Amino acid sequence: MWTRRSSRIILNGDDIAASEITPQRIFEQRRRVLQAAGAMALGGVAGTFGAQNAFAEYASPDPKALKLAAKTDTKFVALDKVTPFKDITTYNNFYEFGTDKSDPSEHAHTLRPRPWRVSVEGEVKNPKVYDIDEILKLAPLEERVYRHRCVEGWSMVIPWIGVPLSELIRRAQPTGNARYVQFVTLNDPSQMPGLADPILDWPYSEGLRMDEAMNPLTLLTVGVYGQVLPNQNGAPVRVVVPWKYGFKSAKSLVKIRFVEAQPKTSWNTYAPNEYGFYSNVNPSVDHPRWSQATERRIGEDGFFTPKRKTLMFNGYGELVASMYQGMDLRRNF
Ligand code: MTE
Repeated sequence: MWTRRSSRIILNGDDIAASEITPQRIFEQRRRVLQAAGAMALGGVAGTFGAQNAFAEYASPDPKALKLAAKTDTKFVALDKVTPFKDITTYNNFYEFGTDKSDPSEHAHTLRPRPWRVSVEGEVKNPKVYDIDEILKLAPLEERVYRHRCVEGWSMVIPWIGVPLSELIRRAQPTGNARYVQFVTLNDPSQMPGLADPILDWPYSEGLRMDEAMNPLTLLTVGVYGQVLPNQNGAPVRVVVPWKYGFKSAKSLVKIRFVEAQPKTSWNTYAPNEYGFYSNVNPSVDHPRWSQATERRIGEDGFFTPKRKTLMFNGYGELVASMYQGMDLRRNF
């Protein structure tokens, strides 16, 4: 649920009262801001990218990581407690590196995120191959704290860094035929050992309708926790679509293609009755094999911890529901 406080719109926690978490959060924020400012003043061990007289609210606890400066976008800050860095970077889905949650953090060191190029192509007036450094400079980097809900029933709260995908789309100038955007991941077996397993239709591919891609929430993401994306989180660039199940947020992108017809996507091809094209978070439409009504928040799960109620559109309805007016979301799941 979105609530307005003075000039800020804040995504409220569903079952944590703001009064319960605010003092701790303010304390944590202040600490992180000081840490980040300190890291920048020192130049950081590995340097800082794109310093725009701002700093990341959440500083990376990894001293070796390349830091990213970003302005926190207070319009897009989920009030829930942010998931620890360790969980965000060790509990991953990235099947190109194996199917266990620990596989990506253990094996993704073989991914080479630099140099890196992303081809923007298809139904656009300005096709262009972007170098990763050009993507970092597309627009001032923003930090956004988003809920992240996996179709498997777990969730996290993640401080991403990126630019609205709409910034790139605006430059590409889609033609009148562009109705969908397809996101394609790197497909290089020398860097991605999991590609040897034909479990999915490689390369990993996902898609959005044009209005979804243009939605201000859709983030072309280059960092997390004040640093560049760790390999296991989709370095050097991925998309993040917070009102959809996590699998729509494709990692390590090499192609962004504008197309007329709804593109084939990896999970929908794998099991069309289980993973729809839209895949909006929807607690009232169960997966054929499990309920989607509740979720387990990673980092705060203990034996007696109750599950959280999953929110329609992951709590982002105010910004996205209008895109689906008149659509049967049970059929278009
Ligand atoms: N992108 C690629 N290329 N390969 C994948 O296996 N897994 C998806 C998505 N993007 C995946 C991917 C799934 S199922 C989820 S839940 C999220 O990435 C996980 O993102 P995270 O590991 O950063 O939390």
